[in-house]
Amino acid sequence: MMKLSRTLVATAIAAGSIISAGAVASVNAAGVAYKDVADMLIAVMVADRSTYTKKVVQRLAAKEKVIKASEHFEDDKALPLPAQMFRFGAEAVADKTDKFTYSLLSLWPINKQNAPRTEIEKAGLKFVAENKGENYYGEETLGGKKYYTAVYADVAVAKVCASCHNGHKDTPKKDFKVGDVMGGVVIRIPMTE
Ligand code: HEC
Repeated sequence: MMKLSRTLVATAIAAGSIISAGAVASVNAAGVAYKDVADMLIAVMVADRSTYTKKVVQRLAAKEKVIKASEHFEDDKALPLPAQMFRFGAEAVADKTDKFTYSLLSLWPINKQNAPRTEIEKAGLKFVAENKGENYYGEETLGGKKYYTAVYADVAVAKVCASCHNGHKDTPKKDFKVGDVMGGVVIRIPMTE
């Protein structure tokens, strides 16, 4: 326990000193760069998301065919879709804390609610789709409040990602392949003055 918290403090100090030495001035009250916070959050989200897709949906629905994954999972007694699992997590976080929010959006959304709204969301989704392997970071003011907003590519990590989207009646894009950027995760952190 002691060891863990010391490591965290050391990391925070290191991040703070890098920041004060130059480039980006975006650190929170504890001196941790907003970028580092967002990068840590996305690592956990991506790990959980791809694990659910590969070890649960791809295995049980696509490969062994013991249960389906369905948008109407309650009526169909099926597995929730990866995007639905992700949204339930995001909603639970929003209920618990106001320190950050996150969502899964796309320039080619099946669900029109998942289309980008702010300028940063639009620019970020376009950037991560056109620049494979890179993330997008920006700051935006919404409703008079300043936010640090990071956008990360959401990639078709498994065949089921592409095949389900391509075959869905509401998709505006039908030629996704494994490895393609299908959308992006937006993480938004309110900035402290
Ligand atoms: C069995 C079908 C299915 C599978 C498998 C699936 N999706 Fe989706 N996905 C959907 C549906 C339906 C939605 C809309 C859900 C909602 O109502 O928000 C969605 C939403 C999304 C969104 C938000 C934008 C949109 O289209 O509404 C992204 C990005 C996305 N999926 C990417 C992926 C990726 C990447 C994978 C694999 C890790 C994946 N999906 C697997 C059906 C699927």
